[in-house]
Amino acid sequence: ASSLQQVDKPLPYCADGEGEFANVDWDNLGFGIMPTDYMFTMRCSKDGCFEQGQLTRYGNIELSPSAGVLNYGQGLYEGTKAYRKEDGRLLLFRPDQNAIRMKMGADRLCMPCPSIDQFVDAVKGVALANKRWVPPPGKGTLYIRPLLMGSGPVLGLAPAPEYTFLTYASPVGNYFKEGSAPLNLYIEEEFHRASRGGAGGVKSITNYAPVLKAIARAKSRGFSDVLYLDSVNKRYLEEVSSCNIFIVKGNVICTPAANGTILQGVTRRSVIEIAHDHGYQVEERAISVDELMDADEVFCTGTAVGVAPVGSIKYQDRSAKNLCMYRVEYKIRVESVAQELYSTLEGIKRGLIEDKKGWIIEI
Ligand code: COI
Repeated sequence: ASSLQQVDKPLPYCADGEGEFANVDWDNLGFGIMPTDYMFTMRCSKDGCFEQGQLTRYGNIELSPSAGVLNYGQGLYEGTKAYRKEDGRLLLFRPDQNAIRMKMGADRLCMPCPSIDQFVDAVKGVALANKRWVPPPGKGTLYIRPLLMGSGPVLGLAPAPEYTFLTYASPVGNYFKEGSAPLNLYIEEEFHRASRGGAGGVKSITNYAPVLKAIARAKSRGFSDVLYLDSVNKRYLEEVSSCNIFIVKGNVICTPAANGTILQGVTRRSVIEIAHDHGYQVEERAISVDELMDADEVFCTGTAVGVAPVGSIKYQDRSAKNLCMYRVEYKIRVESVAQELYSTLEGIKRGLIEDKKGWIIEI
């Protein structure tokens, strides 16, 4: 049975195929919040069970000033996207993987968690209820943001007595203002994103505010985002503030091993699988900053970011440039590895390439 229940008067959103679009400038979507029609809320009482959830109009929520999430950061978030096909149907990409990751995070932060079915039902419900906000094919996506938080009151440091699972959505275009142009990354030495034994491997909300200072500083110097190094040796790559990182050398694609300090991105895992299918050797291991500066090609992956080429990187007084050069084979210019993997991944997500892996849910 579905865990969704709809309350309030239905808004004039369109049923399948009837296709009215919200009044949005679809050609100029960035990555900013645009309020949509509905959100989904499901509460969990002291017995640890999530009750049937509700779709309600999108709007502010009420929280106790002593809610666990506000005082001690007991919260997780996820990100997944809905795509509109030419025939008007919506496609979801591996939302079960986000549900599984939320479960891992909930365990780390001592929170009860919705079941995989409850999570996926919520994502489906929010996508369908906000269908008129899903951009036309090729113009962007509906970004869906599930949250799990300690919403009950707590004063001493302890797990909150109650939890809320909330899901909202916003139409989005490119994450970076560079659009699909190559990124210019800054390697940070003062700040670290995560350390061994911390919560860097799960999507805890506490991983994000601490990098804002590094991002602001890098952006003020003209960089797109920050790449962090490990906090022990200060030498091995971790990830970028908003995405995972890959390097290419010849036929080998490498990405830092997910050893507890690196987020296990759904896009990261999908790109690894596609790269294997395309005949690349893929290595998940420690990558030194020297190896990065010597790479043929560098790219980032993430739900929000997609597969984003990196053009240049600054580390101390060294710069690596032309990192997304097109490969030349038999004197013919062919696409970059990032472009090749991106085309396959996007093709599957948009329903243009047959999904042989069972990654897509059509709704
Ligand atoms: C995502 O890619 O979905 C993320 O959560 C990254 C976030 C900084 C937008």
